[in-house]
Amino acid sequence: MKQNLIDIAYLVSGIMFIYGLKRLQSPATARKGNQLAAVGMLVAIVATLFLQELLTPVQMLLGIVIGSAIGAMFAKRVEMTGMPELVAAFNGFGGIASALVAGAEIARFMAHNAADTGGNELTAVSAITVALSILIGMITFTGSFVAFGKLSERISGNPISFLGMRFLTILLVLVSIGSMVWMAMEAGAFPAVSDPVMYGAIAIAVAGALLGILLVIPIGGADMPVVVALLNSYSGLAAAATGFVLNNTALIVSGALVGASGLILTNIMCVAMNRSLFNVLVGGFGGDSGSGESGGGASTAGLTVNSTTPDDVAILLSYANKVIFVPGYGMAVAQAQHAVRELAEELAKKDVIVKFAVHPVAGRMPGHMNVLLAEANVPYDQLFEMDEINGEFETTDVAVVIGANDVVNPAARHDKSSPIYGMPILNVDHASTSIVLKRSMRPGYAGIDNELFYNSNNQMLFGDAKESISAITNEVKQL
Ligand code: TAP
Repeated sequence: MKQNLIDIAYLVSGIMFIYGLKRLQSPATARKGNQLAAVGMLVAIVATLFLQELLTPVQMLLGIVIGSAIGAMFAKRVEMTGMPELVAAFNGFGGIASALVAGAEIARFMAHNAADTGGNELTAVSAITVALSILIGMITFTGSFVAFGKLSERISGNPISFLGMRFLTILLVLVSIGSMVWMAMEAGAFPAVSDPVMYGAIAIAVAGALLGILLVIPIGGADMPVVVALLNSYSGLAAAATGFVLNNTALIVSGALVGASGLILTNIMCVAMNRSLFNVLVGGFGGDSGSGESGGGASTAGLTVNSTTPDDVAILLSYANKVIFVPGYGMAVAQAQHAVRELAEELAKKDVIVKFAVHPVAGRMPGHMNVLLAEANVPYDQLFEMDEINGEFETTDVAVVIGANDVVNPAARHDKSSPIYGMPILNVDHASTSIVLKRSMRPGYAGIDNELFYNSNNQMLFGDAKESISAITNEVKQL
C-alpha cells in the first residue's frame, strides 16, 4: 500500500516534470513551467521522506524552510549576468549529492555486512552503477566549480594546459575503469562487501574529481555556458545512476530528463554557434572576453566608420515606420533592458512599429536576451526569434543593435576564414539604416572585427548602451 502511494506520487511528479519542461519552450509560459517542475520535485521528495518514514513532518518542514531560504537568498542576490555561474554552482552541488548518496550506499552495504544480516549482497551490476554514480557525480562537481571560477573570474578565463595533461587524463580514465572492474569483481564475492570495494570507490572519487578539473581548465572562459549545459546533462546522468542504485523511479526519470535536455541544449548552442561539441571541448576558443584588438576575419584596415549622436538617432527613430531592436551581450553588461523598453514605449506612442529580434546565442547563456527583456516587461508579442524576423529587415527603416556584435556580423555569411563562418546571423545589414550602440571598436566574444560597422548605411553610437538609450529616449520625448 505504502509503495503504491509512493509510485503514484512519482508518476504525478514525472508528469509534472515533463509538462513543466514543455512549458519552458516559450518565455510566456516558462515561469509557470519552472514552478510546476519544482512542485513536482517537492511531491517526489515529500512522498519519499514521509511514506518511507525517514523523517518526521517537523524535520521535513525544517529542511524545506532552510533549503528554500538559501535558494531564495541566492536567487535574489545574483545579478542577471551572474546567472550562468549560479547554474554552474547548483550543478556542482547536484553532482556531489549523487556521489555522496552512492558512497552512502556502499557504507550501508558494509554496515549490513559487518552485522552479517544477510540478504543484502552488493551485486556486480549495482557495484558498477554505484561506481558510475560516484565517477560522473565527482566529474560534475569539480568541473562545475572550475566553470563557476572561470565565469566569476576567480580563475583565469584563458584556456589552461600543461605538459603531460593528456597523458594524465588518459591515466585517470584507465584508473576509473580499472577500479570499476575491481569493484564489480569484489562485489559478487562472499562476504557481501569487502574493503576493496571501498578502496575502489575512493579511487574512483579521486580520479573523477581530478578528471572534472582537467576536462574544464583547457576550455576558454567564454565557452563556459556550453560547458555548463554539458555538465548539467552529466549531473542528470549522475542522478539517474543514483536512481538505479536506490531503485528510485523519480530519480531515474528526473535524472534522464535533465541528462537529455542538457544534451539537447548543448547541441542547440553548438549549432547556433556553428561549432562542433568537439571543437568547444578542445578548441580553446574565447578566453577572457572584451579585451584586445580585433583579429581574424576579413581585413577592414583603412576603412572608416560613421559615428552619430543620440539626438540624430532620436530623430531617425521618431520618423521611422518600423524599428527593430537587436539586443546582445552588451545590453546585459550595461543593464540597459529597462531603458530599452522605455524607448520602445515612447516610439510606440509615435505609431512606430517596434519589434525585438532575438538571436539564439546572443549574450552568454541560453535565453539570455529573453530573460532580460521579460524582466523589463517587454511584451512577448514584440519578441521574435531569428527565423521569424530575418525576412523583415528589408522592410525596416532602422535596426538598432544594442551591444550585439558577432550575431550581426555579415562575415559569417561569406568569409570562410572567419571563426564564425556559417553561423546564422540577424540580417541587420538589410535594413535601410543600422545603428550600433557599443563603447568602442573592440570585438565581441569571437574576437573578430565586424564588417557591418563599416557599411555606408551604418552609424556607430559610441558609449555605454544604457546611457546612450536614455539620452535617445530623452530626445525622443522632446520631438
Ligand atoms: P558579442 O559578440 O560578445 O559582443 C558584445 C558587444 O557588447 C561587444 O562587442 C562590446 O563592445 C559590447 N558591450 C559590452 N559592454 C557594453 C556596454 N556597457 N554598453 C554597450 N556595449 C557594450 O555579443 P553577441 O552579439 O550577443 O554575441 C554572443 C556571442 O557569445 C556569440 O559569439 C556566441 O557564439 C557567444 N556565446 C553565446 C552563448 C549563449 S548560449 N548565448 C554561449 C557561449 C558563447 P564594446 O566593448 O566596444 O562596448
